[in-house]
Amino acid sequence: MLGSTGSIGQNALEVIAASEGRLRCVALSAHRRTELLLEQARRFRPPVVVLTDAEKATSAWRDQLPAGTELLLGPSAVAQVVRDPQVDVVLAAVVGAAGLLGTWEAVQAGKTVALANKESLVAAGELITRAARQSGACVLPVDSEHSGLFQAMQAGRREEVQRLILTASGGPFLHTPLEELPRVSVQQALQHPTWQMGRKITVDSATMMNKALEVVEARWLFDLEPERIEVLIHPQSMIHALVEFVDGSVLAQVSPPDMKLPIQYALYYPHRVWGVAARVDWARHWHWELRPPDPRRFPALELGHQVAARGGTAGAVLNAANEVAVERFLQGEIRFTDIVPLCRAVLESHAFESQIDLQTILRLDRWAREEARRWKA
Ligand SMILES: NC(=O)c1ccc[n+]([C@@H]2O[C@H](COP(=O)([O-])OP(=O)(O)OC[C@H]3O[C@@H](n4cnc5c(N)ncnc54)[C@H](OP(=O)(O)O)[C@@H]3O)[C@@H](O)[C@H]2O)c1
Repeated sequence: MLGSTGSIGQNALEVIAASEGRLRCVALSAHRRTELLLEQARRFRPPVVVLTDAEKATSAWRDQLPAGTELLLGPSAVAQVVRDPQVDVVLAAVVGAAGLLGTWEAVQAGKTVALANKESLVAAGELITRAARQSGACVLPVDSEHSGLFQAMQAGRREEVQRLILTASGGPFLHTPLEELPRVSVQQALQHPTWQMGRKITVDSATMMNKALEVVEARWLFDLEPERIEVLIHPQSMIHALVEFVDGSVLAQVSPPDMKLPIQYALYYPHRVWGVAARVDWARHWHWELRPPDPRRFPALELGHQVAARGGTAGAVLNAANEVAVERFLQGEIRFTDIVPLCRAVLESHAFESQIDLQTILRLDRWAREEARRWKA
């Protein structure tokens, strides 16, 4: 499990705890949260734990690890653990492009990859899906919308799919007057109305960059033209995705906003089991809205479609620029409404390349980060 200390990682460990021994952790990997990793190691007794930020592994901390748990340090340890023959499924739940190498190694090793780290597919979707076809790796979505699409798509054949629809809650600023958006605070942006998530994805949900990245993710996961991938606002976050088939029939995937369900679905795929995720209370009077997003409020969406259509290096550049923009917003350096213009400026100034390999992606990722750090409103 790459990213066990994150929001997805912690939810995944609850799914494993409820599995009555059917799921077992071979390795847990964290970056900096040593105390939480220690707690997880004591509870789940994995044979291996990895700390990618090696400097955090003090000798006092190492001494507290349970007997029988080996400690590996640094990013290169990730490649080693995902290739372990005992590993059947790699849960890729690191945040940001830092998760790319873990996903890449897992795909190269032909593993089943339960993919939460959408940034891997945004930056290198073309490479990852090609490598998966060559190695026989199976990439299963953990993102709730893509899990919803994947589940609903099983009602028909691939060539019978007409359109994919991802839903978006609209985030905390769905009804904020447009002229107030430049002044919203970090604290307000971190108040997501329906989901509890890590900080980066929570800000991405407020700008709707999260949905833009998901359009790119869906384009690669399902190999569909971007113009057949649409976004609808659905503030209740109960309908995660809709699949329209060629005959006009539309299938929706519905469940309360709880990541344990898509995580569990990916970990047990192709089986469904009784689980710990919240269930729909059908005794309630539900009122579910669906409507198109306002492009003036959510300009990030247009960038997502543009990048999905271009392919090549565009995804890596958008993703890296956005990571830096979110960090700069969280640090109080730029305004909320600067995030999308920053990303657009970096995208427009990059020397686009249509042929990509991993080195090109990593080089453009570094370049875009530098540009994004320099950008001024
Ligand atoms: N949270 C959700 O509900 C949700 C839903 C759909 C998709 N996703 C996707 O799932 C991924 C994880 O999101 P999250 O919300 O769980 O994020 P998060 O809570 O911020 O957790 C991120 C995880 O990544 C680790 N990490 C951070 N920087 C790293 C680095 N440089 N190298 C290696 N590991 C690093 C963190 O380790 P430490 O904590 O130990 O530093 C932590 O385990 C993201 O790609 C996100 O888009 C999340």
